Amino acid sequence: MSINSETKILGIIGNPLTHSLSPIMHNKALEDLGLNYVYVPFPVEKHRLHEVVQALRVLGIAGVNVTIPFKEEIVKYLDDLSDEARACRAVNVVKNRQGRLEGHNTDGPGFMAALKEAGITPGGWKTVVLGAGGAARAIAYQLARAKVRNLTLVNRTLGKAQQLAAFIQCQTGVRTRALGWNGDAVKQAVCEADLLVNTTSIGMFPRGEEMPPLDPEWFKPELVVSDVVYNPVETRLLAVARRRGLRTVDGVGMFIHQGALALEIFTGVKAPVSLMREVVMHRLGEASRL
Ligand code: ATR
Repeated sequence: MSINSETKILGIIGNPLTHSLSPIMHNKALEDLGLNYVYVPFPVEKHRLHEVVQALRVLGIAGVNVTIPFKEEIVKYLDDLSDEARACRAVNVVKNRQGRLEGHNTDGPGFMAALKEAGITPGGWKTVVLGAGGAARAIAYQLARAKVRNLTLVNRTLGKAQQLAAFIQCQTGVRTRALGWNGDAVKQAVCEADLLVNTTSIGMFPRGEEMPPLDPEWFKPELVVSDVVYNPVETRLLAVARRRGLRTVDGVGMFIHQGALALEIFTGVKAPVSLMREVVMHRLGEASRL
């Protein structure tokens, strides 16, 4: 990489960023494309987001990814929002367009691209989404737009699932209901489901032995199980599903595709998806599974 007076700066803002794979993934992709950009991590203290947004303008930073805990808070500081970002009330990509900061959300489309890559088209399916946070909102919204038959949101905090369910149903007309973790209704929803998506952090490194409190006996043979957690690549939930012969979609696909879509927004150039996957899998110590 050679940095010169024309080099444009991209980056990621979040806290913590120590384990983020975005810098290495994006830098390899930018290098491969021969683009004069550099992508750097910007760890940001929780109360300093507003100053950081001003700095993006002042320094003419070309764009940033936004991650935990700023995806929702940053919305109020931006000039324009894409339809997706407005619907999700969350932003994971900010593009600096001649001084105007434009917010996008590529998490939901990234998830849908990963499903598509696995040959899965969920239109007409019964779906269960575990969690009701930012990732759940982005994914549930996209699934509803893809015209799933129904959506059941299961969350530890029932009120959050209820709010999200009302929002999705009102925006898309898809029948959406909210459940807490306990009770027979969860069992029934999972037994009937064609697609189950974990959007919670259950099973994420270093607590890889955990899995959502569901009985695998409830899974029907046609069920597709997906997890947004990508470290480990095969979460306990996915391992259990695979051992039962079910189709699974891991979180790496969503991570790579949200990144590829972000890179395309930043640069206007098609992202090298296979290279990005190779870099991420290598970093996750899973190169043998490529
Ligand atoms: P993200 O943007 O990654 O979705 P988030 O908005 O903080 O992150 O949401 C995390 C989700 O994981 C929430 O649905 C959270 O449940 P609560 O709404 O009850 O907090 C869920 N979650 C995290 N850890 C969990 C655990 N140990 N058991 C059950 N749910 C958990």
